[in-house]
Amino acid sequence: MNAPIGVFDSGIGGLSVLQALHKELPKERFVYMADNAHAPYGEKSEAFVSQRTHAAAAYLLQRHQIKALVVACNTATAAAIHELRLQHPALPIVGLEPALKPALALSHTRHIGVMATRGTVGSDKFARLLASVNKAAHFEVQACNGLALAIEQSTLTAHAVAAQEEIAHLLKTYTHAMGRFGTTPGAIDTLVLGCTHYVFVEPVLRQLLGPQVQLVSTGEPVARQTHRLLAAAERLMPPMNDAVTPTMHLLTTGNLQSLQAAAQRWLGLPPEVCEAVPADLTLA
Ligand code: DGL
Repeated sequence: MNAPIGVFDSGIGGLSVLQALHKELPKERFVYMADNAHAPYGEKSEAFVSQRTHAAAAYLLQRHQIKALVVACNTATAAAIHELRLQHPALPIVGLEPALKPALALSHTRHIGVMATRGTVGSDKFARLLASVNKAAHFEVQACNGLALAIEQSTLTAHAVAAQEEIAHLLKTYTHAMGRFGTTPGAIDTLVLGCTHYVFVEPVLRQLLGPQVQLVSTGEPVARQTHRLLAAAERLMPPMNDAVTPTMHLLTTGNLQSLQAAAQRWLGLPPEVCEAVPADLTLA
């Protein structure tokens, strides 16, 4: 099937998932939607995030005839994935959730840190996930207000320096609040990055926490899951289809230059692949 795979996030965080998807499925076409006009989602109401997620899915289906949707945002998944699946039963939909179970398999100290948005950690979906694992280890959960916003702003040249300082400050504050990191008994040896934006500040976290702490994100397992779902639905790009060149098409409801800067910086993509779309995603 030649149609593109839709990928959606509040902003640029989902580009970390797009990177993994492209690596896993190099022959596929992708259309990425960043709802930058309304980012960040993490401190907004669940109803608002759900409404935006539905609007993005409808837009991607009608304008781009996507054959599958990856909700590359933990916050939007927590708020909307259930309803989204009910509304689009024929569409393969992949959501993201903080990787608590993979972290359990990796941790030796059984002390695991989780960083995510306030929306994610306050959701019923996260409460159920945590309840399913918290007998097996101690989970230190930290809502990271302001962090996704600072990461968004770090791509705008005018704000880049101030944003980098804010990122360093927030990471220091939040990791400090979570407790002691390391590999000795009682220390947090595994840290779950429960927001797709945080993947882009891994080098700063590494510097703060040292080389032994394991950082766990979800891009690769999500890419593999997407591959499996497409194969099961017989929607993979036909192997010998040379007529269709793999493409990346990136859309933003917000500032075009900042999406172009992020696409260039993290995926090495040229500015022409990015396009601005109406902030309200009207389909008229
Ligand atoms: N990247 C998103 C996530 O994975 C949301 C960040 C935000 O918009 O607050 O949760």
